Amino acid sequence: MTDKAIVRYPGKKAEVSWDGRLCIHIGECGRAKGDLFVGGRQPWCDPDVSGDEEIRDVVMRCPTGALSVEFGDGAGVETPDPVNTVHVTYNGPLFFRGNLEIEEAPDDVPGLRFRAALCRCGASKNKPFCDNSHADAGFADYGAVGDVGNAGAASGGALHVAPSKDGPLIVSGNMTMLAGSGRAAWKGKQVALCRCGASENKPFCDGRHKKVGFKSD
Ligand code: FES
Repeated sequence: MTDKAIVRYPGKKAEVSWDGRLCIHIGECGRAKGDLFVGGRQPWCDPDVSGDEEIRDVVMRCPTGALSVEFGDGAGVETPDPVNTVHVTYNGPLFFRGNLEIEEAPDDVPGLRFRAALCRCGASKNKPFCDNSHADAGFADYGAVGDVGNAGAASGGALHVAPSKDGPLIVSGNMTMLAGSGRAAWKGKQVALCRCGASENKPFCDGRHKKVGFKSD
């Protein structure tokens, strides 16, 4: 990816950036209280009207990594959630949060080190990221998680995500999987998650990507 889709909003002490290729318009920023983002205003985002904590809080709500912030005082970008989570959303993507290492993630999007929405319907034109194609594709899965994994598994550390060619997401590292309901459903440190949309044991891969001829490119 190049940075042509990245729009930067510089302020006196912080610069917020927004990546249009990753945003799926969940609206967490626009609905946040305060004036960091105001629809119809030019510019839409103004870091100078908000305090550092408000900026950090609103940016970190973004579930896709499209929003990120850098502070000029060297205060860093953001810190990862202490527990890596994978949220299997209702009829939608997998929301990853934590200390993320996503293969194929561009270096120029700092938010992807902490937050990402990855496709699990197979229809995205921006794989491995979600681009909202699940809606047009009629993808239906409510995010139930039947297995429990290893309830005693540790937490913390890096979470590595490797999108395999024409196959699942191979996820390695301590993680907690949240069902669509928000329930902490599964814990463990190694899992293959379906990204073709065809598994009959979602969110886990059951090998059906071969039968349906899933192509990840
Ligand atoms: S990636 Fe969907 S069944 Fe394997």
